[in-house]
Amino acid sequence: MAMVIRPIEPRDAAEVRAELHTHWHSNGIWSLGRLHHADQLPGFVAEVDGVFAGLLTLNMVEGGWQCEVITLSSRSPAHGVGAALLAAAEEYARTQGCKRIYLTTTNDNAHAIRFYQRRGWRFSALHKGIVDRVRQIEPSYPLLGLDSIQIRDEIEFERWLVDGIA
Ligand SMILES: CC(C)(COP(=O)(O)OP(=O)(O)OC[C@H]1O[C@@H](n2cnc3c(N)ncnc32)[C@H](O)[C@@H]1OP(=O)(O)O)[C@@H](O)C(=O)NCCC(=O)NCCS
Repeated sequence: MAMVIRPIEPRDAAEVRAELHTHWHSNGIWSLGRLHHADQLPGFVAEVDGVFAGLLTLNMVEGGWQCEVITLSSRSPAHGVGAALLAAAEEYARTQGCKRIYLTTTNDNAHAIRFYQRRGWRFSALHKGIVDRVRQIEPSYPLLGLDSIQIRDEIEFERWLVDGIA
């Protein structure tokens, strides 16, 4: 299995939209009360044996010292695709001069909560009720998530990219 991680290119547009719709039913991704048009964001594509196998989108946060991962998804579970995309985002943030990279996941996503901790990311905040508030703006945001758990909160994970801060 030959895996390549490369920046998103214009020719990926259809696959990027398909990937976002598969996992989030939309190109519009809410995080921390803000709507991101993830199909317009930079990021990375994973290819396995030349075939699209995963996507990570990210956003450089105003001020330039932080980077937020907006989406991460894999079409090839448990083959290292998710970890490789996340490592690419960390390296990108570092080379852009970011001091911190962060992301949020919803409270139902136990697999992702485990996944990020296994990769050394730390809990940094609980945004209790933030999805309830988003749902008031966007009533189509699903109520039930994975394992039929009600989606209500976002959990923020971070990784500091400077020595001495864990
Ligand atoms: C979370 C997600 C991105 C992980 O992607 P993935 O490609 O399965 O991730 P990896 O393969 O890198 O890692 C998953 C596990 O497989 C293991 N693995 C990696 N390569 C492996 C291999 N060759 N053989 C066996 N296991 C392997 C990893 O060690 C890891 O296990 P660990 O966490 O116990 O260490 C994926 O589950 C996903 O797309 N979820 C849906 C979207 C989502 O919820 N995204 C996160 C919220 S933003």
